Amino acid sequence: MCGIVGYYGYRDCSDVLVDSLSKLEYRGYDSAGIAVFEDDKIKIAKTKGRLADLVDKMKTEGKPQGIAGIGHTRWATHGEPSDVNSHPHSGDNVTIVHNGIIENYKKLKDYLLSQGRSFVSDTDTEVVAQLLDFYYCRHHDPVRAIIETTEDLEGSFALGILFNDYPEYIFALRRESPLIVGVGENESFIASDVPAILKYTKNYYLLEHDEIAVLGKYGTKIYDLHYQKLDKELKTADWDMDAAEKCGYEHFMIKEINEQPVSVKTTITPRITDGMPDLSECGIDDEYLKNVKNIHVVACGTAMHAGMVGKYVMERLARVPVNVEIASEFRYKAPILSSDDLVIIISQSGETADSLAAMRLAKSMGAKTLGIVNAKGSSIAREADMLIYTLAGPEIAVASTKAYMVQLSVMYLFAFQLAYAKGRIDENKCRELVGLLQETPDKIAQVIENELENTQFVASKLICSDSLLYIGRGLDYALSMEGSLKLKEISYIHSEAYAAGELKHGTISLVTDGMPVIAIATQSELFEKTISNIKEVKARGAVTVVICRESVELSDDVADYVIKVPDFDDVLMPMLACVPLQLMAYYSALLRGNDVDKPRNLAKSVTVE
Ligand code: M6R
Repeated sequence: MCGIVGYYGYRDCSDVLVDSLSKLEYRGYDSAGIAVFEDDKIKIAKTKGRLADLVDKMKTEGKPQGIAGIGHTRWATHGEPSDVNSHPHSGDNVTIVHNGIIENYKKLKDYLLSQGRSFVSDTDTEVVAQLLDFYYCRHHDPVRAIIETTEDLEGSFALGILFNDYPEYIFALRRESPLIVGVGENESFIASDVPAILKYTKNYYLLEHDEIAVLGKYGTKIYDLHYQKLDKELKTADWDMDAAEKCGYEHFMIKEINEQPVSVKTTITPRITDGMPDLSECGIDDEYLKNVKNIHVVACGTAMHAGMVGKYVMERLARVPVNVEIASEFRYKAPILSSDDLVIIISQSGETADSLAAMRLAKSMGAKTLGIVNAKGSSIAREADMLIYTLAGPEIAVASTKAYMVQLSVMYLFAFQLAYAKGRIDENKCRELVGLLQETPDKIAQVIENELENTQFVASKLICSDSLLYIGRGLDYALSMEGSLKLKEISYIHSEAYAAGELKHGTISLVTDGMPVIAIATQSELFEKTISNIKEVKARGAVTVVICRESVELSDDVADYVIKVPDFDDVLMPMLACVPLQLMAYYSALLRGNDVDKPRNLAKSVTVE
């Protein structure tokens, strides 16, 4: 949550900061601000609202002119979104931007108040600014002040810092919250994520826990909390600029839906050798899998829904018990784990606070952990015992689409290898399943092409509803959870996902005349049963949208609207059927006039619990 950036170089600093922030707006967008050294004095521009509001404000009130500065886009935690709570925040000698949460800010604030300091905002960030200032006043050594401040802080934070006395430098610090230091020709950057710097450089240092960076005239230096200079490995981003741009699409979400075939292909191809799953590079081999007793999949939101599909597939093919847990529940419920257990953490960002904490807990209890992560070098990626990167490139839209799809593809590959290692499927069956998985990119592309108009039309029939239901059985039920989340998070239409067979036990009482029910009916073995459930809601006035196989013919007493996906193996159907669900959510949000990529109250990377 929150994006921070910083720049020192030869370009117009305000322009660079605004441009870099525009690539990070997915991290939070309820206020924005920058601070730039102008003639050796710090000039701040900040406002409640979007980055565009900041740009407008600077058009009328003037844009800070200089070559060194920091910037911020906020997702409010402490204090409502307002001009005064917007970052940057200052003390007499320092100005900072902050991503994260200072857990002991109240205690520190009380102490600073007792020392005669005063505050103008409700934020935890201003406490850090005042604390830095407090230490700096003692000795006028910026790095020492940062070290002393860090020692007092509890929580997660990444900071960009300017000291009034050092107009040719920017300082940065990281604990938990992500932060990179970009290195260009005669210029340097800080940013919460790689897309913010891609336009300028692909080279960066990944700051680790409690590392301090000093950027400026004499290059970049990185220190630890003992004030020791560190030699860090310079990394090179393998994403290109297009990854951070809309490339002609109206929104990132629709661009990312369209990227799914390529993302899946890129993710699975290097993990298949001679037609068999091969996760050995990720630290996973058959010998280890043979002995796994229980699997726990722990994640949040969409990533957890990918785990739900994984559960059905792993249990069906490998006959291993799989428990799927919401990370925020798992970490506080005294989970039962042993050293034979495998805990799989799925996360696009690799920084989700609850998922990270759940993984650390699992490790501390002796379980092995496997991270399935999209963001390179993120905390979960670095700390997991075994790691499978999903190779979707950056996902910018808050609503996850391509990240979900690649998480599914990895769940499948893992399940196939697990089933083979456990002797539950033979080599021929394993090869057959892998072959089918390799066919999915083309089939996904086919669904996007065939169903674009139809899903738009169906969405137009849903957008006036207050509430609707998603139903399905088996894998279709697992998928309906994701369909429902996708719709509600961006269209703001209330919806629930329900196991179709469970409706009669209470929820069917919600069905009244005209209520839309989206039914997913792709599973051959369960098809007739799902159809009966659809008829039950239809008989009570529901308007039904049925997602089914191409070969199926449905009568009018079942479906008002039909969306078809190619005939395919039951097990892999979620990879095709999720596409119309994504498209329906996209068009519903669009038709309702919502901000598709930046839905209200949400942020892409949830680094607070
Ligand atoms: O970065 P993560 O995959 O750990 O994020 C987990 C959820 O916050 C995320 O999937 C969220 O539910 C999506 N925005 C939904 O589209």
